[in-house]
Parts: sequence; C-alpha cells; structure tokens
Amino acid sequence: MDFSLTEEHIMIRDAARDFANTELLPGVIERDNLQKFPKDLVKKMGDLGFLGIMVDPKYGGSGMDAISYVLIMEELSKIDASASVIVSVNNSLVCYGLETYGTEEQKEKYLTKLATGEFIGAFCLSEPEAGSDATSQKTTAIDKGSHYLLNGTKNWITNGGRADVYIVIAQTDRDKGSHGINAFIVEKGTEGFHVGPKEDKLGIRGSDTHTLQFNDVKIPKKNRIGVNGSGFRFAMKTLSGGRIGIAAQALGIASGAFELARKYSKERKAFGTEICNHQAIAFKLADMATDIEAARQLVMKAAWEKDQGKNYDYSSAMAKLYASKVAMEHTVEAVQIHGGNGFVKEYHVERLMRDAKITQIYEGTSEIQKIVISRSLLRD
Ligand code: CAA
Repeated sequence: MDFSLTEEHIMIRDAARDFANTELLPGVIERDNLQKFPKDLVKKMGDLGFLGIMVDPKYGGSGMDAISYVLIMEELSKIDASASVIVSVNNSLVCYGLETYGTEEQKEKYLTKLATGEFIGAFCLSEPEAGSDATSQKTTAIDKGSHYLLNGTKNWITNGGRADVYIVIAQTDRDKGSHGINAFIVEKGTEGFHVGPKEDKLGIRGSDTHTLQFNDVKIPKKNRIGVNGSGFRFAMKTLSGGRIGIAAQALGIASGAFELARKYSKERKAFGTEICNHQAIAFKLADMATDIEAARQLVMKAAWEKDQGKNYDYSSAMAKLYASKVAMEHTVEAVQIHGGNGFVKEYHVERLMRDAKITQIYEGTSEIQKIVISRSLLRD
C-alpha cells in the first residue's frame, strides 16, 4: 500500500494552496463580514480548472481524478470555506450529475459552460418540509405532454442567487414514491422562477444561499435528466460524491485551524515560555493532528474508491461524518488555544469554527450519514 501522493497530485495541491494564500486570503474576513460573494475569484477558479475538476476535457473540464478534487477542496477550505462550497456544489452536484446522467445535448449546452466556470450551477433538493427526508418532495413537475409544469419551493440553495443553471428535483408521480421523482434542468430567468432573499448565515457567509420559488414554470421535456422516475437515485448518487467534497472541506477547515493554532502556540508566551511548551496545549495539538490525519485517510479512501469505480456511498458517508466532527471539535480547540485572540476576527479561527458547523448539516446531516452507514452495515 502506497500512501504517498504522485508528483502530479503534489503539483495540483500546491497550485490550490498558492491560489488560496495569494487570492482567497486577502479579502476573506471582509467577504465574511459583508456576506460578499467572491464573484471575481470564482472566475479565477474557473480559469484554473477548479470548477470542472473531474469533467472530461471534451466538455471543457480538467480531466482530473477525485484525489485531485479532495486535495483542491482541502487547500481552498483551509482559507475560505465559502469559496470551496461553490467549487464543491458545481463539481459534485451539478457537473457530475450532468456528465454521468445527462444527454449529449444537455452536456453540450450546459456542462461545457459549467466545467469552465462560464456558468455556475445549483442543486435544488431541500424543501421547507423535505430536508433530511428527501423522498417527501412537495415540489411537483406535472407532465403536460409537451413540457413539465413545475411548482414548489426549495430551501437553503447554495449559489441560489448566482447560478445560471439549476438542477431541480421534483415529484412527478406521488403514487410511485421515490420512483416518481425526477431531476430537471432549469435555466436562470425562466418565467415563473423567483429567487427569494439571501439567508443571513452563521458561517460560510461569503457563499450565496437562497430560497427559490417555482410558480407554473414550464420545463421543456428535453430538460429532464435520465430516464423517467430516476430522479431520487440521481440525487442520492450525486450526493454521495458531494459528501466526499464536503468531507474534504471539513478536513480543510480542521487542518487550517490546526495550522493557525500550532503557529500561534509557538509564538504566544505565558508563564515564562511559549504556550506550546505547556502540556495542556501540546496535548491538544497532538490530539488535533491525530484526528485530522485519520479524517484525511477516510477522505482519501472515499476519493480513491470513486476513482476505482467502486461503490463509495458507505465510505463517503463515513468520511463526511468523521471529518465534520473533527472540524467542529478542533476548530473549537483552535479558538481555545488562541485564548482571547481566538474570539477576534483577524485571527481567522473564529470564522473557521463558524464555518465548520455547516459541514455537519448540509449534503446530509451527521444523523443521515449514520443512516447510510448503518443500513450499509446491516444489509446482507
Ligand atoms: N444510490 C442509488 N440508489 C439509492 C441510493 C444511492 N446512494 N440511496 C437510496 N437509493 C434508492 C434505494 O435503493 C431505494 O430504491 P428502491 O425503492 O428501488 O429500493 C430508493 O432510492 C429509496 O431509498 P430509501 O428507501 O433508502 O429512502 P429513504 O426515504 O429511507 O431515504 C436517506 C434515504 C438516506 C435518508 C435520504 O433521504 C437522504 O440521503 N437524505 C438526505 C438528503 C440530503 O443529503 N440533503 C442535502 C441537500 S443538498 C445540499 O445540501 C446541497 C447544497 O446546496 C450544499
């Protein structure tokens, strides 16, 4: 077994690290304060190939593997988890779904632009009454012969006010339960499609989260993704890959906070010595480093399984469950190591602590990951 990264992976990681430090870092506190979407930076990430990391170059993508994806996600998330969630949603929930299940026409029209960052994508599954319980979709898409008529509300949609292309999951036949659900492509500006106010969030404040309203929106038949009734499985498969991305985001938040705490502990003095010389701090650092490394192995394993064409539902749920727990616990520790300074924005760790929380909630709460893991364990 070889745990080392290839030269190519190291180059990709270093390119993402360099971009995060030179481009994302300078304005990250301001964007968090003002809830400012990083529009120009998204364009730059598109130019670097970060918005279509795993997409085939024939559709404008970078043609990289899932290991590269998690390396990029970790590096961006060390500095700015708002920027990295835009990358994750576009790659995992939008590009992957279209490339894997879309028609050639859909790929030509949408994927080619999403993979380069000319377009941004959003994935619309959650509803006011269907967050974790995703089969209980209230949004309906009624087959009207020449088109579908879409009605309903979607909540907590990342890139909600900024996207050009929205993948919307809706019920087409209630009697068929999860087999009566479909996924549709909805373009920005379609008549009857309204973007609600932006959410004022605890964390990832630079990302753009909205409620969306669909009132008698006409969806051309050719905008359905996959065969009739395949929308729920489409959503679950895309979310499995999304969970690898969010696990890598959580890993990045944790490792970013750890690095700040480690450096701070070697500079800050108390009781006549640098605080890292006190076991109370040194042992915290040892625990943090150990847990972060364990999270990294889970994230890498899930990405590796995806690259090998294996089923990664189980490993992605485990990676997300564990990495998000580590992110939450150890960003709190990073604040503690910083003492009063940790409570101040300029030291960055309080933002990382706030950003960590969402990794235990979106793309399936920790409880949902436990459902996925335990069902998989108990299936014979
Ligand atoms: N791949 C393929 N098929 C799958 C699947 C998968 N990973 N998971 C489930 N299915 C299939 C099942 O086999 C089943 O098919 P059959 O009826 O033919 O047997 C069907 O789908 C229904 O599955 P379940 O009975 O398991 O469904 P359930 O109602 O018990 O729900 C769940 C399962 C795991 C709880 C699921 O609802 C779930 O993952 N919920 C969380 C949703 C979620 O992650 N939401 C996040 C929103 S997106 C977001 O956050 C984006 C953002 O902007 C950042």
